[in-house]
Amino acid sequence: MTTSVSNTFEVTQVKPLIGAVIETDKETLLSGRHSAEIRGMLEDRGVMVFPQVHFTDEEQVEFTRTLGKFVPEMHGDIFKISMDKAINPQADYVKGAFYWHIDGTMQQVPLFASMLTCKKVAPVGGNTEFCNTYAAWDALPEEERAAIENLRVVHSLVAAQLFVEPEPDLALLDQWSRLGTNELPLVWTHTSGRKSLVLGSTCDYVVGMDPIESRRLLVKLRDWATQEQFSLSHEWSVGDAVIWDNTGTMHRAMAYPLDCDRQMHRTKLEGEEAFS
Ligand SMILES: [Fe+2]
Repeated sequence: MTTSVSNTFEVTQVKPLIGAVIETDKETLLSGRHSAEIRGMLEDRGVMVFPQVHFTDEEQVEFTRTLGKFVPEMHGDIFKISMDKAINPQADYVKGAFYWHIDGTMQQVPLFASMLTCKKVAPVGGNTEFCNTYAAWDALPEEERAAIENLRVVHSLVAAQLFVEPEPDLALLDQWSRLGTNELPLVWTHTSGRKSLVLGSTCDYVVGMDPIESRRLLVKLRDWATQEQFSLSHEWSVGDAVIWDNTGTMHRAMAYPLDCDRQMHRTKLEGEEAFS
C-alpha cells in the first residue's frame, strides 16, 4: 500500500473538556515535528485520536518514542490486547479493562501515557471510553473539594478483580492479594499545580471512613467524573491510533463478544511524576 505524504496536521476538539482528533499521516507523526505540540495537547485534551494512520508495530514504537521515554512490555515492545489466549496469554487479566481505571494505581509512579492502535474491530461494542479527571476535579463545587481534598484511598488488585470475578475461591483471592495494597491521595496535586481525581476499579476504601460511606463516596465521584461533559467514547476503525494522558484520565473498554477477534496493540510511556 502506498501512502501519500500530505504533511497535514489538523486538530479538531471533540468536546470542550476532552479529546482532540488529529487528521494527519504517519510520515508527519514519525518525523517528530509535532512532538512538543502533541505532548502539550495530551495534558490539555486528555485523549488524542489519529484516525487511519495505519502504524506497523515498528512505527508505533517509533512514534511513541518521539513523545517521551518508551517502556517495553513484559514480552517485547508491543502488548497485543486480545481475548484469544493463543495471541494473548493474559486474556483473563484484560477483562479488568471493562471497568473505569487508571493504569498503574498499584505503583507510586503511574505510566504517563498509553497508546492503542486498532488491528481488528469487534462486530459489536468494543469502544474505548475516556474521562478527564482534571476537568472533573475543576468542576466540583468548592465545598465538595474541601471535603475530599485530603482524603486517602487504599487501592488493591483484589478490588479491581472482584468486578471481573465476584466470587473467587480462596486460592484465587490469595493470588490477587499477593500484590498487596497501595495507599494514594484521592486528589492528586501534579507538579504543574493542577489537580486531578484518582479513582477507578482498584479503589478499595477511603482511609478512616465508614465502609458504606466510603463505597458511596467512591461511586459518587466515579459517576461525577464519567459524566457526558467530561468523557468521550471512541468507536474504532482499523488503523486508528489513540493516545491518552494516563495521569489525567480514566479509561475503560466497552463490552464486546469475548469470542470475537478484536485486537489492539499497546505501547506505553514511562511515568514522570509520582501520585502526591
Ligand atoms: Fe488500562
